[in-house]
Amino acid sequence: MLVLGIETSCDETAASLCHLPENSCGWGVPRILSNVVASQEELHGPFGGVVPEIASRAHAELISEIIERAVEGKADLQNVDCVGVTYGPGLIGALLVGVAAAKALCIGIDADLVAVNHLEAHIYSTFLAIKDLRPPVITLLVSGGHTMLVLMEAFGKYLVLGETVDDACGEAFDKVARVLELGYPGGPIIEKTAKEGDSQSVCFPRAMLNREGYDFSFSGLKTAVANHVRGTRQLGRSRKAEDVAASFQLAVADVLCARVVCAMREFGIPSVAIVGGVAANGYLRERIAEAVNAAGGSFYYPGLEYCTDNAAMVAATAAVKRAGGVVSSLEIEAEPSLRLNGKA
Ligand code: KG4
Ligand code: ZN
Repeated sequence: MLVLGIETSCDETAASLCHLPENSCGWGVPRILSNVVASQEELHGPFGGVVPEIASRAHAELISEIIERAVEGKADLQNVDCVGVTYGPGLIGALLVGVAAAKALCIGIDADLVAVNHLEAHIYSTFLAIKDLRPPVITLLVSGGHTMLVLMEAFGKYLVLGETVDDACGEAFDKVARVLELGYPGGPIIEKTAKEGDSQSVCFPRAMLNREGYDFSFSGLKTAVANHVRGTRQLGRSRKAEDVAASFQLAVADVLCARVVCAMREFGIPSVAIVGGVAANGYLRERIAEAVNAAGGSFYYPGLEYCTDNAAMVAATAAVKRAGGVVSSLEIEAEPSLRLNGKA
């Protein structure tokens, strides 16, 4: 089965082609044939964050070309059996572009449509890179829009253990970078800046750790960093951005590690994966891997190309769903507030 995946939920216009052998019964992991991603980072950079209107326009301008590039030299578009598309959660205008393109394609080439939840696609991304991994897996999904700890019991069966009650983890990186006047997107710049800093120089709060459960909160940490920077500036004793970035990153790592290890112990599950844009952070991965290994578990990560938003994870999720008998109606609509286990 040849599946085309389309992803336009935020600021990446992406398309990917994958192949799932017809006889793959049980747990078959699709082979990725192409993975084309056009990032709009440069368009949104001057605004310090994603501007929804600009994102939708850019998707609309690029989508046809990106789909063509994903298929070019790999297959004849007419031979695509199924089109998988992210239908939520995300920015409504951005999602609409992908959903409309997918519907039009399905009608034009007589393919099946499979609507894919962006969060499920992120969770599935680890399996693309680690072919012999099987559920159950505890997955930490950390991106610009989401922060959640999920127990994947089987494909399509997810227990959400905890979520952020306010800002997403990546959003905190972006806002701290803005406070430190380092640029956008904040994650990679904070990681780079923190390498030169002393992580023990400022003690920032580790929110929610005194509470039971698995929820996260990053808004207080972000405010603590902003207050610290403002306060020290007023006193004329500005601390080096490197020290603030390193101390912030340490606080984030402490919280993520504590939650992950606690979940491993409570549910008796040794496999832990980290996915989403923030998983690109080498320091966080190192810290979580150390904590997971020390607790007797195994740590997995899908690799950089499948961490940040991409359509390979969408194509693959659609392929596995289609193989399991799922076909979506052409009447489906974009769902900006879609939850992992269905509508809000
Ligand atoms: O998954 P993603 O590409 O898009 C969403 O679905 O949100 O994640 C983007 C987020 C941004 O907030 C960005 O700052 C963060 O991932 N990010 C990082 C790093 N690279 C990207 N955060 C921390 N460290 C990084 N190296
Ligand atoms: Zn994402």
